Amino acid sequence: MRIPGFTSTASKRPEALFGPGAPRGLPVRFTRSEGARLWDEQGREYLDFVMALGAVGLGYGHPAVSRAAHAAVDAGVVGSLPPEAEERLAERLAGLVPAMERTRFLKTGAEAVAAAVRLARTHTGRDGLLRCGYHGWHDWCQSPGAPGVPGAVTALAEELPFNDPERARALIRLIGDRLAAVVIEPVIEGPPSAEWLAVLREETRRVGALLVFDEIKTGFRVALGGAAERYGGEPDLVVLGKALANGFPLAAVGGRRAVMEDARRAWISSTLATELVALAAAEATLTVMQGKQVPAHLGAVGRVLFDGLAELALRYPLLLDAPAGVPEMCFLKYRNEETGIQLARRAAERGVLFKRSAYNFVSLAHDGGLVERGLEALEESLAELASPGA
Ligand SMILES: Cc1ncc(COP(=O)(O)O)c(C=O)c1O
Repeated sequence: MRIPGFTSTASKRPEALFGPGAPRGLPVRFTRSEGARLWDEQGREYLDFVMALGAVGLGYGHPAVSRAAHAAVDAGVVGSLPPEAEERLAERLAGLVPAMERTRFLKTGAEAVAAAVRLARTHTGRDGLLRCGYHGWHDWCQSPGAPGVPGAVTALAEELPFNDPERARALIRLIGDRLAAVVIEPVIEGPPSAEWLAVLREETRRVGALLVFDEIKTGFRVALGGAAERYGGEPDLVVLGKALANGFPLAAVGGRRAVMEDARRAWISSTLATELVALAAAEATLTVMQGKQVPAHLGAVGRVLFDGLAELALRYPLLLDAPAGVPEMCFLKYRNEETGIQLARRAAERGVLFKRSAYNFVSLAHDGGLVERGLEALEESLAELASPGA
């Protein structure tokens, strides 16, 4: 095997999906995907709820996105000048995501959040950070002691608990005029409370720090304008990735003009940030997102999934806790880890890819019928696990 750790995307490792020492026969590599389905190396078909870790909102290989990408390939992919599509897409985002008056594009989510942090530090002239959630693999957001990451860097970013207004107020005041930004994922195991968001906004303003929403999972999923539209919060900067280009590599950092103009001073630049294929894919994705009101669909279909999971939790109280997340991105909670592992394995044996931890995602390609099929596979697997001798 030439790839240490099996694959370059950690959450797609067999042990991430199916637990350590997973038996042979489970799906480990894919060859093709379409809509809400995926085929493995053996040609077996799966109904997918992992959905490339939320990287597609329209389903795999949406025809309009594929057509736009093919046209961009035919147009040469890259050139020595920036493409028209870059400015056009920034204009589209400004109309959709309220905070995104100005935008810069990058390739990965981690890169784009790192750019937001660089911008916040440039704008405020401060180093301190508070962070809440997962923001990728870059140095600034790793836990103290993470291999290969200088302690001097991790010491600058403290962890902020989710949905805890009192703690947020205390931490922001404590760091005070050393604080450059509070960077949060707006949905973690549930929606943000209005009170928490209000405290974050009020207190960051008070100390002169920025509020950054990492909307890499929530963007174009909980609303066209993301969590900031759905739940409020008035972020200064917003970061998008994943569903933005429906699986093509593109991420964006955008925000208030006064902050984003500092991108001229801070060094943020990447050779392939302006390649045409992902930009064209994103334009096509946004057209479908708007035309088909995709977040409303995700909310409705996700509700069928979420309610179904809640019902399973009621029926199997010895195995399951109530589901967590929001309908658009949710997961089951288990009485013990082994149950989650066994459930994911048994669902896969029944042709369903279901993530045992945060998060499962629905897409435009999912409908009520497919969700019911997925729930049936989970129910059958749980019945097996609940029976003596399982
Ligand atoms: C909220 C959030 N921020 C940042 C990232 C990192 O994005 P990427 O893996 O594209 O670098 C992720 C990826 O899962 C994410 O969910």
